[in-house]
This record gives sequence, C-alpha cells and structure tokens, in this order.
Amino acid sequence: MSAGARVRLEGLRLAFGDMPAAEVDLDVSPGEIVVLLGPSGCGKSTILRALAGLLRPVAGRAEVDGEPVGDAGGMCAMVFQEDALLPWRTAGRNVEYALKLRGVPRGERRRQAGELLTQVGLDGFSGYLPGQLSGGMRQRVQLARTLATRPRVMLMDEPFGALDAQTRSEMQRLLVSVWQQYWTTILFVTHDVDEALLLADRIVLLTPRPARVAKVVDIPAPRRPGAQFEPEFARHRYEILASMGEVPSAEPSQMAPESPAGTRALTGTE
Ligand SMILES: Nc1ncnc2c1ncn2[C@@H]1O[C@H](COP(=O)(O)OP(=O)(O)OP(=O)(O)O)[C@@H](O)[C@H]1O
Ligand SMILES: [Mg+2]
Repeated sequence: MSAGARVRLEGLRLAFGDMPAAEVDLDVSPGEIVVLLGPSGCGKSTILRALAGLLRPVAGRAEVDGEPVGDAGGMCAMVFQEDALLPWRTAGRNVEYALKLRGVPRGERRRQAGELLTQVGLDGFSGYLPGQLSGGMRQRVQLARTLATRPRVMLMDEPFGALDAQTRSEMQRLLVSVWQQYWTTILFVTHDVDEALLLADRIVLLTPRPARVAKVVDIPAPRRPGAQFEPEFARHRYEILASMGEVPSAEPSQMAPESPAGTRALTGTE
C-alpha cells in the first residue's frame, strides 16, 4: 500500500506580504505522526498549506521525498476541521469522486468506496447525503475520501476540533487504526495537549507568530487505551503545559513534596 513519505522543511519561511508567518526546520520520517502544537494564529495552518502546495515559501524549502512540494502533486492530502464534502453527493459518491480523480475505473469505484466506508465504520451509510450525517460521521467520510486518494502524507488541520469529546476520542482511535494499516506520514495540528500526546511520535511546540520550533518532545508512541493515565504521560503533559506557560515550570521540590513517585513522574530523566 501507499507507505508514508519523508517530509522536510528546511529554513522554510512563509509570509503574507511583509508579515512573517513561519520560520521552520523540521524533518519528518516516513510513517511518523508529528503533531504541531502552538498558540492560535501562530502559523500552524499556514505551514500545512505550504506543504499542500497552496502557499509559496518566501525562502527555504518544503520537500516531500526529496521533491519540492510544488512538484509533488497528489502526495499530500489535506484534512480540515470543517469537512469539505460535496453536499449534493452522497457519502458513497463523495468517496467515488476521489477514486475517479485517482483514475480508478468506473466499474471498480463503487466497490472500493464501499470498502473504504466500511473501514471507517460507515457500513450501510453510502447512500446518505452529508446533511443527513452527524459531524463525526462526516469526518469519517472525509477520512475515507482522503484514503481513497492514497496519500503518502496526510496534513490534518484540527480535524476533530469541532467534535464532542466522545466522538473525538472515537475518531482518534480510528485514525490510529487506519494509520497502522497504511503507515502514511501524518502532520497533525491541534490545540489539545491530550490529543497530541495520544497521537504523536513527536510533538513540535511552536512559538507565537511567526511560528518557530520552540521545543520538540519525543513521545514513546503509547497509543494504547488508558496510556494517558500513566506517569510517563503525566510527565510529558506537564512538560508541554509548562512550555506553553499554562502551568509553572516544573520545580520538583515545589511540585509534589510529599510524593516521591509523583515527583519522579514530573521531572523525568533529561
Ligand atoms: N491569507 C492570509 N492573508 C493574510 N494573513 C493571513 C492569511 N492566512 C493567515 N494569515 C495570518 O497568518 C497568521 C497565521 O495564521 P494561521 O492560520 O496559520 O494560524 P494558526 O496557527 O493556524 O491559528 P489557529 O490555531 O487559530 O488556527 C495569522 O496572524 C493570520 O492572521
Ligand atoms: Mg489554524
């Protein structure tokens, strides 16, 4: 199947007129999930748009498998917070349309679309229009449609941001299971630290605009149910929240004086 591509941002500088929006270096391995976390307006969406070839860099390079993105064509697929389904086409037809764009013969499309919809848990909903589906279901259709293009990189811009907590965690599990089947490279933007911790191999914390890499946190890819309650996870969560200025910087002596185990969990080994 379509394994993930390597993504490199090298001295990438993005701007709107004379307002700088991002200055980033980043190297993403094939099949890695990297989460971009940063304050509102810092330039996260702008970085994804540059990778999708929708915005030309002022300087530096964005490469997918060694090719400048402008030439990489269909290797990257963008997934938005608001689903971008065609409202007058049924779920099945939305997916079939993506298969058509990929050149899948007409006779094959319905069956493949059905398989993709089943894969995202929408067996039996092929004939529904987007307006007849819930937000979570529409995001599932969007995921199926994205997979139909066999992307080597998925650029996901707060794709679950508009969903309620339970639907959101279902979608996170679905994304992990889909990713484990396709091993596509994923750049995922979120505001939600727990979502970042759950999904990421690496979390890249960005500064306020222009987005620069403030800190990179390697996560030992837990992705198992309940992992977010383990001490290692708590330590990462604290470290990230501290970097974002949302909790005081971790001072072990101030954090949990009567709890040596908790102190270890928060300070770690670095
Ligand atoms: N088309 C545009 N023209 C001019 N300025 C823009 C344009 N798109 C974004 N900007 C500006 O660039 C900066 C970064 O925007 P961007 O949408 O990348 O932020 P973001 O990190 O995705 O924010 P959020 O978390 O709120 O989605 C903002 O100051 C925004 O106003
Ligand atoms: Mg954004």
